[in-house]
Amino acid sequence: MTLLDSRLEAQLEEFKRDGVYKRLNHLDGPQGPRAKMEGRGEVIILSSNNYLGLCNEPEVVEAGKVGLERYGAGTASVRFICGTFTVHRELEASLARLVGTPASLSFVSCWSANEAVPGTLLGEEDLVLSDQLNHASIIDGVRLSKAIAKCQTGVYLHANMADLDAKLAAATDRRIKMVITDGVFSMEGAIAPLPDLVDICRKHGAVLVVDDSHATGVLGATGRGTAEHFGMVGQVDIITSTLGKALGGAAGGFVAGSGAVCDFLTQRARPQLFSNALPPTVAASTLASVRYLEAHPERVTRLRENARYFRDQLNGLGFKPLAGETPIVPVILGETADAIRMSEMLLEEGVFVTGFGYPVVPQGQARVRCQVSAAHTRADLDQALAAFSQVGRRLKLI
Ligand SMILES: Cc1ncc(COP(=O)(O)O)c(C=O)c1O
Repeated sequence: MTLLDSRLEAQLEEFKRDGVYKRLNHLDGPQGPRAKMEGRGEVIILSSNNYLGLCNEPEVVEAGKVGLERYGAGTASVRFICGTFTVHRELEASLARLVGTPASLSFVSCWSANEAVPGTLLGEEDLVLSDQLNHASIIDGVRLSKAIAKCQTGVYLHANMADLDAKLAAATDRRIKMVITDGVFSMEGAIAPLPDLVDICRKHGAVLVVDDSHATGVLGATGRGTAEHFGMVGQVDIITSTLGKALGGAAGGFVAGSGAVCDFLTQRARPQLFSNALPPTVAASTLASVRYLEAHPERVTRLRENARYFRDQLNGLGFKPLAGETPIVPVILGETADAIRMSEMLLEEGVFVTGFGYPVVPQGQARVRCQVSAAHTRADLDQALAAFSQVGRRLKLI
């Protein structure tokens, strides 16, 4: 065993002792409101980003198969060499139309998209400010931009517009000022205060970037995201989002914005220049997901109704989930080990909900996070609620 291995083994043992070790559960069938989990049989999935239930929607799956037949399994190249297929162009046009920007550019993940944005678009005389509770991919993208673009970076207090305003006001020497926020904060389910963000960014001439990974397909009457939720489609400068959640749930991400932003990223974004393109099968199935979403806004309505029902019923049982309007319904427990224990007990009752602790969420704010889908039936949700009730009483939480 190398020195590195023995150090890692010791740390892994510590994770197990502290009750924070993550065990991977293997699904042996498609992702859905219920799925077959190896060793457990059928469980209710209340812990996936399959918000619209499109992972296993027949039209979406069929489009992936047709894409596989037509384009083959892989791109075998990066975009600018020979990895660009006609289906990438169609997908990017459909994503831009969906979120309301002139152009979009796909990436192999939203992680890559978030890494690309500040580090590629900014330079030495510029500044990027990031919300304190932004997703890890934004945090790392901002850190990287400091090394790559040599821009100034900063963090403003979560959703605190006075702090953001003051930090932008103090940055008089900065040429481009960029503000990055999650549209929906994934651990809280809270929605960013977009009208205020747009006002403050306009006031200071700053560029606003919104990561809509948990909002695309989820927020707004037709699932166009945070901007549609606030009646502000077309007012966000740059949107990043994932293809790995509501839009079929496979993988991939995109940046949507002006033609210049997307063209510049095509020319210079390192995750785009030095990494293979999104597989054509995924581009084809995601394109079908976007078309499905456009033709079926009732899925978004159903998602909203399911989320409201589940949140109300949890409250009725005596839990105190964080208030909100999104399908992310977190129940705060405090200690990481408690969150993991509750999720294990729920799994024993046939309900899969993940427990999250530090460092994913702040110390002392560990939680189980439920994610409701449009594909859940009332029977699925009621069965999950019965399991919550049983486990909650056993743990003396209710
Ligand atoms: C807000 C946010 N941004 C980005 C990502 C990363 O997306 P992807 O899985 O496409 O890399 C996630 C995924 O968890 C997310 O929640």
